[in-house]
Amino acid sequence: MGSIYLDHHATTPVDSRVLAAMKPFLETHYANAGSSHLAGRRIRKHVATAREQVANLLGCGVGEVLFTSGATESNNMAIHGVARRSQCQGKHIITSQIEHSAVLFACQALEKEGFEVTYLPVGKDGIVSPGDIKAAIRTGEEGTTDRTVLVSIMGANNEIGTIQPIKEISKICNEASVVFHVDAAQYIGKIPVNVKELGADLMSFSGHKMYAPKGVGGFYFNSASKRMPCIQPIMHGGGQEGGLRPGTLPVPMVVALGKAAQIASSEQEQHNDKERQLRDWLWSSLRSNIEGLKLNGSIEHRLPGNLNICVSGIDAELLMLRLGNIAVSTGSACSGKSSAPSHVLKALGLSDKEAYASVRMGLGRSTTKEQLEVVIKEFTDSVQKLRKLPSLR
Ligand SMILES: Cc1ncc(COP(=O)(O)O)c(C=O)c1O
Repeated sequence: MGSIYLDHHATTPVDSRVLAAMKPFLETHYANAGSSHLAGRRIRKHVATAREQVANLLGCGVGEVLFTSGATESNNMAIHGVARRSQCQGKHIITSQIEHSAVLFACQALEKEGFEVTYLPVGKDGIVSPGDIKAAIRTGEEGTTDRTVLVSIMGANNEIGTIQPIKEISKICNEASVVFHVDAAQYIGKIPVNVKELGADLMSFSGHKMYAPKGVGGFYFNSASKRMPCIQPIMHGGGQEGGLRPGTLPVPMVVALGKAAQIASSEQEQHNDKERQLRDWLWSSLRSNIEGLKLNGSIEHRLPGNLNICVSGIDAELLMLRLGNIAVSTGSACSGKSSAPSHVLKALGLSDKEAYASVRMGLGRSTTKEQLEVVIKEFTDSVQKLRKLPSLR
């Protein structure tokens, strides 16, 4: 068997139907969507179709979807855009300790501009407590750090796959009139989502996590929300996407995202069922083969394709090397180069040693039982061999 890809949280392959849909827009339909000639008008129809496909996946109106380059940009747009627009109301932001760096670093940048940020802890299960959010919301003097203007909590975690209680958090933010943003990069396109039922004001999502290419994503904003101030644009230019995300629309990428959203709308549940069954089987097989395995985060509130386990007595980097053609990971792809232990695992209460011994596996649409049989065998053999070596950390 060739290589086995178990890193679908880092990125997913482009679906062949998505590739086929975008190809004409690279080859022949290359007019600028902003042009007023016939070719430009024709392109605009395809952009409108893509927006409709994404809106259908989200359960929102077409006017509530903006295209961006991905979730990093959408997160920055939301956090900086709301903070700048609302600073005369307040300068306090709430987020969690297990957010992606695109949220954490955007918040840290605002701290340098005089905002105060509360980084809420999570339980051992990797879930943020809605009660903690309620207690952290400040209603003090306007224009100061005594008043909260934004809560930003991820939909699902990229390392441990835990799914946050978004609906409950929305309710709390609604009651307190605080804007609620969700980093939904690992959530939208991975599990069924209806943004209106969830009730958040803003959500960021990413194409390459849902079988579209890297470099495209989007942003949902609830046009009916009373607590939503306008977002101040963080970029300036030609006025595309309502002036919030100026720049020539990357039409092939937008068409690809639309197609990926359409596929996710119709196939997601079936893929989820298969991934969940395979993941549960993988977990029970590994547990019966290897002693001293511990699951990081809740099994119940978890993405169907995610497994993140601590393998006592090994170094996960060495395990990855031994696994060779089996692509698993030791944390998020973004902090993969850092030698620091995962901030997510540390927030769950793991020691450095336990964090360094943890491995993430992300199953996807093309994962098969035959592949996992190989993974179970190789994983078991490698752990047994590594446990015989003296510890390096
Ligand atoms: C939770 C989360 N947020 C944001 C991002 C950044 O997304 P993008 O690569 O589209 O910028 C990622 C990607 O790893 C992610 O997992």
